[in-house]
Amino acid sequence: MQGSHAPQEPIVGPVLGIESSCDDTAAAVLAGDGRVLAEAVHSQAAHAAFGGVVPEIAARAHLAYLPGLVADVMAKAGLGFRDLGGIAASSGPGLIGGLIVGSGFAKGAAMANGVPYIAINHLEAHALTARLPELAVDATFPYLLLLISGGHCQCIAVEGVGRHVRLGGTIDDAAGEAFDKVAKLLGLGWPGGPALEKLAAEGSPTAFAFPRPLFGRAGCDFSFSGLKTAVANVVAGFPAGALPRQVAADIAASFQAAVASVIADRAAHAMADFAERHSAAKLLVVAGGVAANGAIRAGLLAACAKAGFRFAAPPLKYCTDNAVMVAWAGLERLRFGLVDGMNVAPRPRWPLAELSA
Ligand code: KG4
Ligand code: ZN
Repeated sequence: MQGSHAPQEPIVGPVLGIESSCDDTAAAVLAGDGRVLAEAVHSQAAHAAFGGVVPEIAARAHLAYLPGLVADVMAKAGLGFRDLGGIAASSGPGLIGGLIVGSGFAKGAAMANGVPYIAINHLEAHALTARLPELAVDATFPYLLLLISGGHCQCIAVEGVGRHVRLGGTIDDAAGEAFDKVAKLLGLGWPGGPALEKLAAEGSPTAFAFPRPLFGRAGCDFSFSGLKTAVANVVAGFPAGALPRQVAADIAASFQAAVASVIADRAAHAMADFAERHSAAKLLVVAGGVAANGAIRAGLLAACAKAGFRFAAPPLKYCTDNAVMVAWAGLERLRFGLVDGMNVAPRPRWPLAELSA
């Protein structure tokens, strides 16, 4: 059922949101008008020792931390479960163990308290975040989303709740994955993006001429594996052992420059494709942890200025995985009566094209 209410109208009760699709356990409560009443997150550090997220460790940690986080946010919001208009949880795509923990918890609490359950597509949650009232971005539909995280890299035309069109995406690694892999080659810790950006500040972006995969190509697909291999080949050309710091910094800066110029180029193509579909709408929203990168942001800003698009980057805590975005997506769905049955199973793969609207 589609309602005719404006998005800001407080027509539903508060919503509890739960995020557990990767390595962040998070819970948040939003009032019916979208105000954030409480939020809490536990980022799992245990994976650093393994150089990446270990699904089984992640699932067990979600199980250990989620009940406490939910109790905290409900207490801070001053609400009981029966006061809620809905309980929303990331139901995919993501690591299945964590999805089972989060959606199972949400369903149990919903069923026990007679509250609707809302199964959230994690990508849609990222996509709708720009509409969160406190961000004060004019993000009326449609707009263009560039999602660049450790697990995802895609351009999406966000046309409405449950209505998203994937314009392009990576054909191999995600952007954050490329940062993490190159950081590993340079002997930096995990996650590698922030450490690599810091090291790059000491290096020259023109020291190494790394390839810029798909640069200038029609459409807005991405590819990073060739770039990663090029870096690996350069590193292999030096004697075994730790690279001299200046060499590592030059590699980091040159790699980052290649990624930034590829992402700006792909975004420019995405804006052109989007403008063909929606000539009047001109907003690019960026989300995902990689959006924290200064060189990438600068490249995107320049591309937006050239294309005549506004540029919106939610604060980092809403760019990376969080539960506020899940609760907000729940609220947006609840306003249209889009709730789910207890038989809706979490999905490790859940393309946006398969969303209900
Ligand atoms: O959105 P996010 O927190 O988690 C998911 O992947 O869902 O993104 C994490 C990714 C990691 O790959 C991390 O290395 C990358 O974002 N990242 C960065 C920066 N900060 C985080 N990449 C480049 N530069 C950064 N400053
Ligand atoms: Zn995410």
